[in-house]
Amino acid sequence: MRILGIETSCDETAASVIEKSENLNIVTNVVSSSIDFHAKTGGIIPEVAAREQTKLIIPVIEEALKEVKDIDAIAVTNGPGLNGSLLIGVETAKTLSFALNKPLIPVNHLLGHVYANWIDRIEVPQFPAIALIVSGGHTDLVYIRDHEKIKWLGGTKDDAVGEAFDKIGRLLGFPYPGGPEIEKAANKYKGPDLNFPRPMIGSNDFDFSFSGLKTAVLRETLQGFVNRENEIAFSVQKAVVDVLVSKTLKAIKKYKVKSLILGGGVAANQKLRDELELKSPVQLFIPRKNLCTDNGAMIAAAAFYNKKVVSWKKIKVDPSLHF
Ligand code: KG4
Ligand code: ZN
Repeated sequence: MRILGIETSCDETAASVIEKSENLNIVTNVVSSSIDFHAKTGGIIPEVAAREQTKLIIPVIEEALKEVKDIDAIAVTNGPGLNGSLLIGVETAKTLSFALNKPLIPVNHLLGHVYANWIDRIEVPQFPAIALIVSGGHTDLVYIRDHEKIKWLGGTKDDAVGEAFDKIGRLLGFPYPGGPEIEKAANKYKGPDLNFPRPMIGSNDFDFSFSGLKTAVLRETLQGFVNRENEIAFSVQKAVVDVLVSKTLKAIKKYKVKSLILGGGVAANQKLRDELELKSPVQLFIPRKNLCTDNGAMIAAAAFYNKKVVSWKKIKVDPSLHF
């Protein structure tokens, strides 16, 4: 069985065909990003992102289907994300579903990040599992009892972790997106960290808060930061990773799970990967780096296990879709 996955929730236009025999395997995977546009403005302007989506969606899907003879279903991200960007993917998927007479499966983007861990793997996560989703728009801890049985445990009260990286990156004069830049700069620094606040690290819940960290960095940079970018980046990364790891370990302990699943763009961060690998008492699953950031493969993968088929007439975009 083959599913075409379409993802347009933010600034990536992506389409992929995934095949399921015993496991899920990538047949094709095309990702086109308008990130260079957003680098110029230091962040995403939703209107610009949506316009880029309209230009890229057809060529990207054509490329993904070029060598593929047939597909059995179409999966598309219907939220959460930017309204205009989501609409382009959903309208295109609707048209394809009608024209090709194939079932249409709406997929929650966050679930896609979880199911990136099922792609091209012989060994897949065992349930129950804890998943930590860390992206530009989200920081969520969830408990997964089984496919389609998910309980949201907590999330950010203000900025998402990737958003905090991006805003702090801008303070430090790094290009957008700030996450990978902060990682690069942090790797150049050796020494003690500045001990930035670890907001909510000891709170009796599974929530996060990152806006205070941004303010602490702002205060630090106001004192002048010439030649101190690497030290600040190192300290920011350390504070963020400490909080994420601490809360995740707490969830693993409380829910007595068999696996830990990491997903989302920030899961590409090597420090976070290494720390979780070192400290997780259960088997850790992290997608390879190109499947951490947004892609269509993860949307198709999630659709195999969450087959809520809807009519093309009924599918709806929901920019604030929750778990
Ligand atoms: O999942 P994603 O591609 O898009 C959303 O769904 O938001 O995540 C993008 C986010 C950006 O905030 C970016 O700065 C962050 O992931 N990111 C990283 C790294 N690579 C991407 N953050 C830290 N370290 C990285 N290596
Ligand atoms: Zn994402």
